[in-house]
Amino acid sequence: QSSPVDPAKDAAARAAVALVQNGMKLGLGTGSTANIFVDRLAERVHAEGMDLICASTSKATAEQARGLGLVVEDLNDIGWLDLTIDGADEVDPDLNLIKGGGAAHLREKIVATASDRMVVVADQGKVVDRLGAFKLPVEVIAFGWKTTRRQIERALERLELADRPVILREKDGQPVITDEGNLILDLDLGQIPDAPQLARALSAIAGVVEHGLFLDICNLAIIGRADGSVVELE
Ligand code: A5P
Repeated sequence: QSSPVDPAKDAAARAAVALVQNGMKLGLGTGSTANIFVDRLAERVHAEGMDLICASTSKATAEQARGLGLVVEDLNDIGWLDLTIDGADEVDPDLNLIKGGGAAHLREKIVATASDRMVVVADQGKVVDRLGAFKLPVEVIAFGWKTTRRQIERALERLELADRPVILREKDGQPVITDEGNLILDLDLGQIPDAPQLARALSAIAGVVEHGLFLDICNLAIIGRADGSVVELE
């Protein structure tokens, strides 16, 4: 028996489905809200006989979408996307995001930045004044990951973010392995004073594949509320 659908996430997902047009090349996100979007999208595609080609940001979403009869192809074969719909872990008033709570932010960023538009679907709880309460995911290469972690800690010290924990993500006592075979370090920052500066510092470290700061990537956030209403941030 499946669990009841969160009404706030469902409201955001339904509003996002309305943005999809026949013939689009569409990026599909990862996470529980993106999953609801894919469910609702498949309903509309079958009801209206729409023709879409989708690229997925994770193996899990690709499996879900294909199971619902959606066409999912390799991003290399599709080339460029019209629209990507994805969830987020935090959204600030400038539509900057933290993503990667589902360990998928590397593929998510590739797909989002290969799209004309990126739209976030989220519930009200994801909206923050300033990013950083959610631990910032950073995907790192397994080789030498402890020295990469030390380099991240040094970078944080230089940015006056010393002594913030940098935690290897584990599940059931084992390191989480991403779809690309890498590890995730979660940075417990509390608040991020200067997100562009932090993004640059992290990207400059050898061994860091991608961080979960999505800056100037999202074009619209559809925020669902428990009463089924939505607000749009743009
Ligand atoms: C996946 O890596 C994340 O970027 C997700 O988009 C994020 O965790 C949102 O998931 P929920 O919709 O389940 O909150």
